[in-house]
Amino acid sequence: MVGKIKGTGSYRPVQVWDNDKLSHMMDTSDEWIRGRTGIGQRHIASGGETVAYMAARAAEEALSDARMRPEEIDLLLVSTMSSERIMPCAACEVQKLIGAVNAACFDLNGACTGFLLALNTAQAYLGQQIYRRALVIGSETLSHLTNWEDRSTCVLFGDGAGAVVLEAEENAVYIQAAHSIGSRGEALTCVSRNQQQFIEKDADLSSTYMQMDGKEVFKFAVSKVPEVITEVLEKAGKTKEEIRFYMLHQANKRIVASVSKHMNEPLEKYPMNIENLGNTSSASIPLLLDEWNKKGRLNSGDWIILSGFGGGLTYGASLLQW
Ligand code: COA
Repeated sequence: MVGKIKGTGSYRPVQVWDNDKLSHMMDTSDEWIRGRTGIGQRHIASGGETVAYMAARAAEEALSDARMRPEEIDLLLVSTMSSERIMPCAACEVQKLIGAVNAACFDLNGACTGFLLALNTAQAYLGQQIYRRALVIGSETLSHLTNWEDRSTCVLFGDGAGAVVLEAEENAVYIQAAHSIGSRGEALTCVSRNQQQFIEKDADLSSTYMQMDGKEVFKFAVSKVPEVITEVLEKAGKTKEEIRFYMLHQANKRIVASVSKHMNEPLEKYPMNIENLGNTSSASIPLLLDEWNKKGRLNSGDWIILSGFGGGLTYGASLLQW
């Protein structure tokens, strides 16, 4: 017994910043950003578009897609590393906003692999028959963690939320592999702002924005993602040809292209929406899944592999049947 995805939803902040806007804010260009990353624009949260608000909007859409009522949800997980509030957790705020009064709620932080890790957690609960229906959400306001004076990172990220509703089913399939390499964690860091100010009164706050060794992260992703996808295929006894879509965390078009080449599987099997959304960390996989679902690109019975990677360093892949 594991969970089957019954519905998907998403939320994109109203404000959109394209590359031309960024080129007026700093020394960069549409040509550089598109060429190196595939990103053309990103949504930027404003006003009341918090992690919890966006998560709730995505959750409502996923519930409506699943034709389920909020009270039917037993478990509500939010994957985020950018929540405005430490307490109450975003999942409890979502519970309040959507009226999922019967759900146990908590947040997880696994950086850009977070959604996949939250999905694994929900599947463990459903597999043990502790809960029957789960809402799993990835929601990020990365623009709050972005140093807008650091052109090497700020052009990469965007805000948004994606959600899925799972229901336990006898014949559903979910096979996963997840790994972490804490010893390489310094490649992608962000120190808590409160912590930094507490340690040192006039602290340099630059470390409280996302800092990254771009080349190191790139090398990590292009080597580990094909490895973990292969691991899941072997565990499942499936061939790569049987997979309809490989839905990767949207960090960089060149990373996706490199994985497709490594796997020797056509790029058409690797959906991308990074051009419009940028890297939305743990929201990127459910945003992509929702887009493909709403476009009617997913057919019942399709085998899909999701794969995430990022800060930690963390990475993983999961096979599911649509
Ligand atoms: N606009 C214009 N020029 C820029 C720039 C920008 N936004 N950012 C950096 N540059 C410049 C650099 O200063 C450097 O100039 P120099 O050669 O004169 O020193 C040049 O572009 C090349 O920079 P470099 O960092 O070597 O580029 P790169 O080819 O490694 O690409 C990334 C940079 C960030 C796009 C790439 O490393 C990457 O995508 N890494 C993975 C990051 C990622 O996905 N992280 C999230 C994982 S979850």
